[in-house]
Amino acid sequence: MKNIIVVFLTVLSLYSCKDNIRTKTISIEKNEPLKSEEENTLTRSASDTIDYVNRGLEYALSTQAILGKNLMQAIEKGGTVEALAFCNEQAYPLTDSMAVVHNVRLKRVSDQPRNIENIANTEELNYIENYKKSIANQVSPEPLVINSGTDVKVYYPIVTNAMCLQCHGKASNIEARTRKKLTILYPKDKALDYGVNELRGIWRVTFNN
Ligand code: HEC
Repeated sequence: MKNIIVVFLTVLSLYSCKDNIRTKTISIEKNEPLKSEEENTLTRSASDTIDYVNRGLEYALSTQAILGKNLMQAIEKGGTVEALAFCNEQAYPLTDSMAVVHNVRLKRVSDQPRNIENIANTEELNYIENYKKSIANQVSPEPLVINSGTDVKVYYPIVTNAMCLQCHGKASNIEARTRKKLTILYPKDKALDYGVNELRGIWRVTFNN
C-alpha cells in the first residue's frame, strides 16, 4: 500500500510540475484564428487541462489502489478462487462508489474484456493501440485528455504485473479451480493469456462540463 501511495504521489507531482507538454490533448472544437481574447481562453483551457489530468489521475489511481488492496486481502484470505468472487461482485460497486465520492464517472475499459460491459469503443481501441506502442517502445505512458465540448475524459493505462497473471495469465499460470470458475462466470472471457507489463486496459474518468 505504501508503495502505491509513493508511486501515486510521484506521478502526480510529475504532472503538476509540468505544463501540458507531456499531455496529449485532442480538442474536437474548431480552432479559429487567434485573437487576444481567444489566447486568454486558450491559456485558461491549458490550465483547465492540467487540472483535469491531475484530478483524473488521482481518481483513477486511488480507485486502482483500493481495488488492488482489497484484491490482495481477498487472495491472502481465501486464495485466488475467493478473490475471483471479490472481482466478480465488488469491482463495479467499489469503482462506482469512488465515482460518487468524486462526482465523476469512472470505468475500466479493455480491448480484451472479461466482463463484456467493459469493452472499449472504437476511439478507445485506438488509444489502447497507442498505449501498447508506448509500452513496446519503453516510453512511459502519459494520461490522455479528450475534450468533446460536452464532457472531458481522462484516460490512463492499466498495466499487468505478476499478480494479475493468477487470473489473466496463460492457462499454466491459473489454478485449475480458478480456471473452471472463470469459464462459468465469463463464458466469453477474453482477458486471458497476458504476460507481465502488458496493457490490460485503460481507466476512463469522465467529467461533465
Ligand atoms: C482473483 C482474480 C483476479 C486477479 C488476481 C486480477 N483480476 Fe482483473 N479481473 C478479474 C475479474 C473476475 C474481472 C471481471 C470483473 C467484473 O465482472 O466486473 C476482472 C476485470 C479486470 C479489468 C476490467 C476489464 C475487463 O476485462 O472486464 C481490468 C482492467 C483488470 N481486471 C485488470 C487487472 C490487473 C491489472 C490485475 C493485476 C494488478 C488484475 N486484474 C488481477 C479477476 C482478477
